[in-house]
Amino acid sequence: GKGLSLSGKKVLITAGPTHEAIDPVRFLGNRSSGTMGFELAKKAAELGAKVVLVSGPTSLDIKHNSIELIRVTSAQEMYEACHNHYNDTDVAICAAAVADYRPKNVAKEKLKKKEGDLNIELERNPDILLSLGEKKSHQFLVGFALETENELENAKGKLQRKNLDGIVLNSLKDDGAGFGGTTNKITFIDKNLEIKTFGLKTKPEVASDIWEEIISRIHA
Ligand code: C5P
Repeated sequence: GKGLSLSGKKVLITAGPTHEAIDPVRFLGNRSSGTMGFELAKKAAELGAKVVLVSGPTSLDIKHNSIELIRVTSAQEMYEACHNHYNDTDVAICAAAVADYRPKNVAKEKLKKKEGDLNIELERNPDILLSLGEKKSHQFLVGFALETENELENAKGKLQRKNLDGIVLNSLKDDGAGFGGTTNKITFIDKNLEIKTFGLKTKPEVASDIWEEIISRIHA
């Protein structure tokens, strides 16, 4: 795009999955690779921003003078890292696939197998994006929505309920979109419910499109 810049802006991005401990060697997790969040961070740095990238466990790495990578494991740790940096943030994008639940009790010793079934009680994790929306002052706040049905309606609901300025919808119905892959197909919805749909693109291209949508709105 033309005249795109994030010079002087501070950006906070969450990426990757979270791992919720069951015992010292086991966890609950998901298949998020972290790619979309890392691409958003890289693009923001290229556009001149100072970036804090808070990532759950991932095989990815990124080295850039303007990117501070904070590695976390659990949703609770991600929550704390985000709130530590939020006051100082101009644009926050939550691209992490945060576990909604964690084991209520973390066993101190490795669980031993026994006769019969095992039940693990789960409790809710904090919704990081929702909590940032509640605390929002000057920040431009963007979330992701991965939906399998009533995509637009659910995404709009999330946008309003979580007090967001924009939401990126990826449909799991579209081939090549969503988790793990190298491509994505998104729809961007802003808080006025203006909707823009993009074609199937590589994740670096999708990151550029998302930043173009955000920058046009923070500079408007
Ligand atoms: O409500 P749902 O989980 O579908 O919303 C997805 C959005 O919320 C994503 O932006 C995700 O990063 C964020 N989220 C979060 N903390 C959670 C759950 C979701 O930040 N515990």
